[in-house]
Amino acid sequence: MTISLVGGARGRQFAKTGKSENIFEVTSPSGKKFWPTANRCWSRNPDGFEALNRERRIWWGPNGDRAPRLKMFLSEAEDGILPTTLWAEAELFGLNQDGIREIRALGLPDFPTPKPKRLVQKVFEIGSSPGDLILDSFAGSGTTGAVAHKMGRRWIMVELGEHCHTHIIPRLKKVIDGEDKGGITDAVRWRGGGGFRYYHLAPSLLEKDKWGNWVINKTYNPAMLAQAVCKLEGFTYAPSDTIYWRHGHSTERDFIYVTTANLSHGQLQQLSDEVGGERSLLVVCSAFRGRKEGYANLTVKKIPKAVLSRCEWGKDDYSLKVENLPKAPPKPGQQRLEFEPTGHSRESGNPVG
Ligand SMILES: C[S@@+](CC[C@H](N)C(=O)[O-])C[C@H]1O[C@@H](n2cnc3c(N)ncnc32)[C@H](O)[C@@H]1O
Repeated sequence: MTISLVGGARGRQFAKTGKSENIFEVTSPSGKKFWPTANRCWSRNPDGFEALNRERRIWWGPNGDRAPRLKMFLSEAEDGILPTTLWAEAELFGLNQDGIREIRALGLPDFPTPKPKRLVQKVFEIGSSPGDLILDSFAGSGTTGAVAHKMGRRWIMVELGEHCHTHIIPRLKKVIDGEDKGGITDAVRWRGGGGFRYYHLAPSLLEKDKWGNWVINKTYNPAMLAQAVCKLEGFTYAPSDTIYWRHGHSTERDFIYVTTANLSHGQLQQLSDEVGGERSLLVVCSAFRGRKEGYANLTVKKIPKAVLSRCEWGKDDYSLKVENLPKAPPKPGQQRLEFEPTGHSRESGNPVG
């Protein structure tokens, strides 16, 4: 029932005169007297206040002895109701113990700080709509993704610990298979469905040697290197079984060859002859001898330079263009779960970092 007396036309008038017709004493049904708090006045003048009180539109608390509040009816609220800032009702939002129980019910190992799903659900109801993207870059036990999934939101979770394998993946699989019966499942009538993709971030492709030169990270094998360079150079990785220099293509006639070799003039000339006049080849190698301009159908680049020119260092914003994520190919027997492990260390597949 109060409004600010600082700023605006009302504030300026009050600052000038020190008076406001909206500052007056009111008496609650129990006889308790109230004044507006500092720097505020009632939102009505005495007549307006009295009229509201007569219409029983003022709430004085359950015992009629609290500061007045204006009653609002649901039918009068234009865009729903503003959420309150303090959520103390454990019965509405749950406790951490509920989160622990939910994880145990799924047969997963204990996690120290899982949030109750109802709390997360409330946050998503307030701040998102179905189809929105929800990011939890500290995914932990995966509660965020589980709730987002059941509520029809899309989600991205990032986790550097082992929880990804001990909690998040098994948990989300259960959600998708409709086996997770706990949490908000009944409230949102969740029956299963959808899918997700999983990427294992590879280490940096380049590292500095002891002389401070950029060299290819030793953990990369030739296939991973070829795939990573294809991605950076905008080629589709599609290694040929028969032609050693065809690692990928950008068009039907434009190919890429990635090698850690130091190519001599003779080797480049041989490549150029094999490629022929109808096709072109981007050669990305560790080093080469001779003039790279000497071959009409070859473009020759050195790997660290080619990679460095596309790596982004020291930026504040490394925005991930999620709409450009490569499509996961459907796998037999996995219609619903689009689970695509990629990475170089744990799973076979391709690095994405
Ligand atoms: C408090 S837990 C998250 C709880 C989780 N959001 C939930 O609702 O259950 C924090 C998690 O962040 C992970 N983490 C910490 N630093 C990280 C980083 N730089 N990148 C990714 N995950 C990180 C930790 O391994 C831990 O699992």
